[in-house]
Amino acid sequence: MKKLSIKLGIVFFLIIFSLEIFMFFFLHAALVDSRIEEEFFSLQARGNAHRDILEKHFEPDTISHVTLMESEANTDVVITDMNGQLLGSSVKSIDIQDHINRSDSDIPRDGEVVDDNWKEGKFISTVSPIDINGETSGKVFMFQETASIHSLIERLNRHFILTGLIAVFLTLIVIIFLSKGLAKPLIRMKEATSKISKGDFTISLPKNRNDELGDLANSISQLASDLNYLTQERNDFLASISHELRTPLTYIKGYADIVLKRNLSIEDRDKYLIIIHEEVNRLSDLIKDLFDLAKMDKNSFVIQKRPIDLTDFFLKIEQKFSPAFQEKELEFEVICPEGAVIIADPARLEQIIFNLLDNAIKHSSPGAKTFLSINNKKKDVYINVRDNGKGIPEEDLPYILNRFYRVDKSRTRSLGGTGLGLAIVKELVLAHGGTIAVKSKEGIGTEFELVFKGADNIENDTIS
Ligand SMILES: Nc1ncnc2c1ncn2[C@@H]1O[C@H](COP(=O)(O)OP(=O)(O)O)[C@@H](O)[C@H]1O
Ligand SMILES: [Mg+2]
Repeated sequence: MKKLSIKLGIVFFLIIFSLEIFMFFFLHAALVDSRIEEEFFSLQARGNAHRDILEKHFEPDTISHVTLMESEANTDVVITDMNGQLLGSSVKSIDIQDHINRSDSDIPRDGEVVDDNWKEGKFISTVSPIDINGETSGKVFMFQETASIHSLIERLNRHFILTGLIAVFLTLIVIIFLSKGLAKPLIRMKEATSKISKGDFTISLPKNRNDELGDLANSISQLASDLNYLTQERNDFLASISHELRTPLTYIKGYADIVLKRNLSIEDRDKYLIIIHEEVNRLSDLIKDLFDLAKMDKNSFVIQKRPIDLTDFFLKIEQKFSPAFQEKELEFEVICPEGAVIIADPARLEQIIFNLLDNAIKHSSPGAKTFLSINNKKKDVYINVRDNGKGIPEEDLPYILNRFYRVDKSRTRSLGGTGLGLAIVKELVLAHGGTIAVKSKEGIGTEFELVFKGADNIENDTIS
């Protein structure tokens, strides 16, 4: 469990941490720049204010008044004439000459910065010109110690470090929860899949997420329930097969024992041998049907579709089946329009029709009629097999296409049914991409409706 969340956590952290560092540096530089600019601006503005007074009264009194004012403030002023000759100063300790010499004679009206080296120098300074009657008569120098700027920056740095630490801490907490939150459902799903692979389908995964992880959880739950259903179905199917095989074998063994052990008359012996023969036939039918179904399940079943002219096809079916209907005194009618064509595997289609007609014969009483009708509707071909035989009870109808499902086990057994006929029909119809539906009323009759794609509808189908 640790691995995934740690990996995710580290990746998230590195990305967010570098983003944070980048943003903090950028912000810090911008803030320092603007604070320094403010300091210069206010120093210069103060110099300009003194200059304005001095321009009005450029006299020793005013000069000493201005220097007195500055000696109380944390800035300093130096007033010189235009040649740099000192007229007044509030400065006590610093060497100002260097600064005074540095200023050039052509100073803009709003003043300018003389020394901006706040990082290394002890002072920053600005100068403003005193213009009287349009001529520069003197200069006002302003000084400010850089120590105050340094302490300001230091305070700013402290704030940044504190916020940085808090941000990293919060990032870490968020990432721990986030990576755990992401990794946890994945780990649960991994556990669920290993349970499934061990054959335990009772898994429970949270269903309340509507993101990709939720989709994955739903797919896994679906997989588990599908596998559960399939396993169940396979077990039921195996149980049914063994049961179905056992019944004829019991008959065969029983009658074979009788024939072997007892002194039977020739007629009796023949009677039993006929029963044995019938049961063997039933077994071989059953095994043939099972084999067909097994091939369909394995998908190793090849449907060789080709266009079939239904008029021809059903004419042959009619000829083939009529004797069987006549034998049971049943009527049989085929109604097929000229020129109907479907794309199907002829052998499989015949198997489908055979199974349906076989049922109609088995479950109809003499005098009943069976219709086999074909209709072209839009792009589809409808094949209906309708009889007015004994019908299927409503409660059995939903299961009638299931494997081994028979309405009346004992009676249909005497008719030789395996209960696999309709299951095979259904698989074959689906393999053709068609559909099957059944309607029936007890005592009235049964109708199977198959819908296949017609020849015009075949462009979007692959012919295998
Ligand atoms: N045309 C029909 N009329 C009445 N019952 C039918 C008809 N077709 C099928 N059935 C019922 O459906 C059951 C399943 O049919 P099927 O799968 O063909 O098995 P089988 O014919 O081997 O018994 C039959 O046992 C029968 O009870
Ligand atoms: Mg049948």
